[in-house]
Amino acid sequence: MTNESGPVLGIETSCDETAAAVLSPAGTILAEALLSQSAHAAYGGVVPEIAARAHLAHLPDLVADVMTRAGVHYAELGAVAASSGPGLIGGLIVGSGFAKGVSLAHGMPFVAVNHLEAHALTVRLPGLVPDGAPFPYLLLLLSGGHCQCVAVEGVGKYRRLGGTIDDAVGEAFDKVGKLLGLGWPGGPAVEKLAREGDPQRFGLPRPLLGRPGCDFSFSGLKTAVAHLVAGYPPGPLPARDAADIAAGFQASVADVLADRARHAMAVFARHESGRLLVVAGGVAANAVIRQALRRAAADNGFTLVAPPLRLCTDNAVMVAWAGLERLRLGLTDPLDHAPRPRCPLEALSA
Ligand code: KG4
Ligand code: ZN
Repeated sequence: MTNESGPVLGIETSCDETAAAVLSPAGTILAEALLSQSAHAAYGGVVPEIAARAHLAHLPDLVADVMTRAGVHYAELGAVAASSGPGLIGGLIVGSGFAKGVSLAHGMPFVAVNHLEAHALTVRLPGLVPDGAPFPYLLLLLSGGHCQCVAVEGVGKYRRLGGTIDDAVGEAFDKVGKLLGLGWPGGPAVEKLAREGDPQRFGLPRPLLGRPGCDFSFSGLKTAVAHLVAGYPPGPLPARDAADIAAGFQASVADVLADRARHAMAVFARHESGRLLVVAGGVAANAVIRQALRRAAADNGFTLVAPPLRLCTDNAVMVAWAGLERLRLGLTDPLDHAPRPRCPLEALSA
């Protein structure tokens, strides 16, 4: 029997994180679990086939685990929500297929969640922002696969203000990490190494700095780092130089992101009443970048909000929460809904 006001089970399998979570109808996290697939590190990037097989192997146990820890029976669930794109299609099929199976077996609604909408709505989880995060707000989504700024006007209501014209910012961190001989993913390793380095020593470019609009570009910066590294003899770089390059690269990214955020805030403020700048995605973990964005926000009369790191990176809490938000508006999906590797936020409708 359907219990429309029951807890929601959320499932995330769009990339290399297998995750499940159960949220109460009010949005309290009853249980969450996440498995970061380690098998990809040896290949220096996510291998889609390995990811899909790992989701298939681990998702059933993860779901059983969160249901037990939440103390919720399937029959009590109000809905089951799964990331249904964008992402790697094999993983999306595993996660949404599993969710549809639960929905069919236990007679509850299925919610096909746009993974980007899940990132966009996370900040509205109860308790993250005093008195909640009201619409509209400005979102900077900074991850390995996505790099865009979006006006979030409501559930299913998004206005894209700009995005990367080449690489995503996390992708640039990963490529620079590789050039410097660090492990994968590169972001955390580059940040760690940059702490020892001099950000001024190498004058690296700041792509699109000061240009009108809210777009980003990182491939020229990555190429500049590649040229620098190519000037050294083969083999590991001298430790001092590697640290200075990492620090120079990170400083350039922070400058560019702060500049682009300034432009986006100006554009947003012309049309919208909200003054919240929200960052999400793995790159939001970077302390230097957060600091630069915090300063840019304050200069423009905005407040920066970054959800806790585990909710910034891919997770199932955000999927369950987006499911709840949609369920409250009566937005559910048929079981023949097809997951899609590409589905931009602007294409959503509430
Ligand atoms: O959001 P996320 O977990 O997954 C998706 O890409 O969807 O983001 C992962 C990205 C990777 O590119 C990783 O290198 C980057 O976030 N990242 C960082 C840091 N931690 C993770 N980049 C810069 N500094 C960090 N501390
Ligand atoms: Zn993501």
